[in-house]
This record gives sequence, C-alpha cells and structure tokens, in this order.
Amino acid sequence: MKKKLICIVISVMTIAFALTLGAQVGGGDIVMKNSGGDATFSHERHTGKGLTCEQCHPEPYMMGEKHKTVTMKEMAQGASCGLCHNGKKTFTFKGNCTTCHKK
Ligand code: HEC
Ligand code: HEC
Ligand code: HEC
Repeated sequence: MKKKLICIVISVMTIAFALTLGAQVGGGDIVMKNSGGDATFSHERHTGKGLTCEQCHPEPYMMGEKHKTVTMKEMAQGASCGLCHNGKKTFTFKGNCTTCHKK
C-alpha cells in the first residue's frame, strides 16, 4: 500500500517536471537572425495548431543540433519552414514575408 502511494507521488512529480520542462523547451520562441529581418519561430503557435513534435523532429529539425541556416530558395524546394509553408499544408511564404520577418 505504502509502496503504491510512493509510486503515485513519483509519477505525479515526474509529469509535473516534464510539463515545466516542456513549457520552457517546446514553448519558447526561437529567433533566427537573417538578412531578410529577424524571423521568429514559436513552438506555442505551432503545437497549438495540433502539430505534434514528430512532424518537425527529428526531420526537418534535429533537436540539440547546431542551427543550420536555410535560404528562401531552399525553402521553395521544401526545406525547413517550406516543408509546410508552401500553400498546400498551410499558408505559403510567398507574399507573406512580414508574417515571419520583423524588421
Ligand atoms: C512546426 C515545427 C515544429 C514542431 C511541431 C515542434 N518543433 Fe521543436 N523546433 C522547431 C524549430 C524550427 C526549431 C529550431 C531549429 C533550429 O534552430 O534549427 C526547434 C527546436 C526545438 C528544440 C531545441 C531548442 C533550442 O533552443 O535549441 C527543442 C528541445 C524542441 N524543438 C522541442 C520540441 C518539442 C518537445 C515539440 C513538441 C511539443 C516540438 N519541438 C515541436 C520546430 C518544431
Ligand atoms: C510541420 C509543418 C510546419 C512547419 C515545418 C512550419 N510551420 Fe509554421 N505553421 C504551420 C501551420 C499548420 C500553421 C497554422 C496556420 C493557420 O493557422 O492557418 C503555421 C503557422 C505559422 C505562423 C503564424 C502563427 C500565428 O498563428 O500567428 C508563423 C509566423 C509560422 N508558422 C512561422 C514558421 C516558421 C518561421 C517556420 C520555420 C522555422 C515554420 N513556421 C515551420 C505549419 C508549419
Ligand atoms: C514561414 C515563415 C517565413 C516567411 C513567410 C518568409 N520567410 Fe524568409 N526566412 C524565414 C526564416 C526562418 C529564415 C531564416 C532561416 C534560417 O536561419 O535557417 C528566412 C530567411 C530569409 C532570408 C535570408 C536567406 C536568403 O534566402 O537569402 C531572406 C532574404 C528572406 N528570408 C526573405 C524573405 C522574403 C522576401 C519573404 C517573402 C517573399 C520571406 N522571406 C518569407 C522564414 C520565412
């Protein structure tokens, strides 16, 4: 009985810890500096749209790896944001520059 209670306490603590950690890691905004003006990626905005971690990790974004710079030309061929922001899965980057780039 006592053992069971300890088990429950430990699992609750683990979940609470995972949630706090998740709020920092997955929820924090990532600013990508580039010549087109700083582009911000928001985990909150994306997971809030029903996307799962697996749709972006490990492909196209390997977690814990150094950021790989991608050009808009490469995005037009489906790299990085261009995997979805292509007018098929969601709004295209074409003509929507200021949605991502803030001067
Ligand atoms: C729509 C795509 C997308 C989804 C969905 C997504 N991520 Fe990410 N994630 C990114 C991008 C983009 C980066 C930044 C990659 C880079 O800098 O090259 C990133 C980076 C990260 C990093 C590294 C952060 C850092 O500061 O280096 C972690 C950890 C992470 N994501 C966790 C998660 C978890 C956990 C989930 C699910 C809750 C998730 N991601 C869902 C796109 C996504
Ligand atoms: C796995 C697919 C996927 C990838 C990869 C992806 N996005 Fe998105 N993004 C979405 C979807 C879906 C939406 C929701 C669009 C809507 O609400 O109609 C969205 C919305 C957005 C929005 C609008 C957020 C809001 O609601 O205000 C911005 C800005 C954005 N993405 C930037 C980026 C950037 C920058 C990258 C690359 C670093 C990126 N996205 C990569 C799927 C993706
Ligand atoms: C879905 C979000 C998104 C949209 C919309 C978008 N960009 Fe970008 N752009 C980015 C991100 C993110 C980077 C930085 C990529 C990196 O660091 O890996 C970038 C990089 C760039 C760069 C530097 C790399 C290069 O290609 O020379 C330029 C310039 C640029 N964007 C211009 C534009 C213009 C012009 C538009 C509108 C036609 C636009 N972007 C629309 C997300 C977006």
